[in-house]
Amino acid sequence: MKSTISVGITGMGSSIPDKVVTNDDLSKIVDTSDEWIRTRSGIRERRIVDENTATSDLCTEAAKKALIDANVNAKDIDLIIVATVTADMAFPSTACIVQKNIEATNAAAFDMSVGCSGFLYGVATGANFIKAGVYKKVLVIGAEVLSKILDWEDRSTCVLFGDGAGACILEECNDGYGILSYDLGADGKSGHLLTQPAGGSRMPASHKTIDERLHYVHMEGKEVFKSAVRVMESTSLQALKKANMELEDIDFLIPHQANERIIKSAAKRLKISDDRVYMNLDKYGNMSSASIPIALDEAYRNGLIKKGDILLLVAFGAGFTWASVILKWEK
Ligand code: UT7
Repeated sequence: MKSTISVGITGMGSSIPDKVVTNDDLSKIVDTSDEWIRTRSGIRERRIVDENTATSDLCTEAAKKALIDANVNAKDIDLIIVATVTADMAFPSTACIVQKNIEATNAAAFDMSVGCSGFLYGVATGANFIKAGVYKKVLVIGAEVLSKILDWEDRSTCVLFGDGAGACILEECNDGYGILSYDLGADGKSGHLLTQPAGGSRMPASHKTIDERLHYVHMEGKEVFKSAVRVMESTSLQALKKANMELEDIDFLIPHQANERIIKSAAKRLKISDDRVYMNLDKYGNMSSASIPIALDEAYRNGLIKKGDILLLVAFGAGFTWASVILKWEK
């Protein structure tokens, strides 16, 4: 039987490290320039954590802010989902560390490894627990400390990424608001184009894997670029179809913040004008699963989105994976 429960975002919060690293800073450590990074990606600077900060620390700050924004007590959270590819450690999960930190003693908790699409996969998963009548309040966090898995000698990757966390609280909302539809997908055949090869059971950590720099991000940028533009269009159209909506119904596109050229190409294909596309990658770079919740939190706090606006959130990333969510904003 189809659920009649509508689920929406009732609170948001984010955490961004203080330390700013500019393109000029990077040009001192690798053979690159502000001009190359800006024109190829749109990025001007990114935020990087200090050596003592891990993903769960950013998650905890973002989660506390989201709880306050939603006026929800941590003890009332039923489930915590953390989407990340930079967990504090292989296990326990980062979600369990957050559960301890915020004292959400009644919550179940798990991590999701979905690359940059992780936050939207998390939102879809959390919403379904509420729709099924199993849980009432779910905390979903997208968080990454990518700076610790970047090869700072590889100019083709280290200039692109940044650290951050964004969190939301999902709860039942008024009928007709909240998540109107979503589309999730994956293509494991293309997974090799974006990987952190070593450190798992296929290639456990050894002196050899460290010498060969296999614990860092490896990416075939050009191939990822081409797939990203295609898939952002197709998943958006799928979500629109499921919501029985047209492209003209979308007030704002909040895309994964990987590359300005990818976002503009996808928006052009979708015929969404630049003034309806939210971008902040110039300040933060690509924060993988944290990009969308931080962008959404910023757009909401800056008063750009208002009650009743229809938002299209769309992401692609490692796996490959993709996801889109159509949301009628109720806050
Ligand atoms: O979140 C999902 C994950 N990632 C992405 O979405 C990234 C998708 N890909 C991209 O954003 C783009 O492909 C990049 C920004 C990574 C690269 O842009 P591109 O236009 O595809 O450049 P390219 O990789 O074809 O490289 C062009 C040239 C190469 O030199 P040659 O072979 O033409 O002599 C690179 O070696 O630029 C060189 N290059 C650089 N030069 C200065 C690569 N990185 C740099 C750099 N600074 N940082």
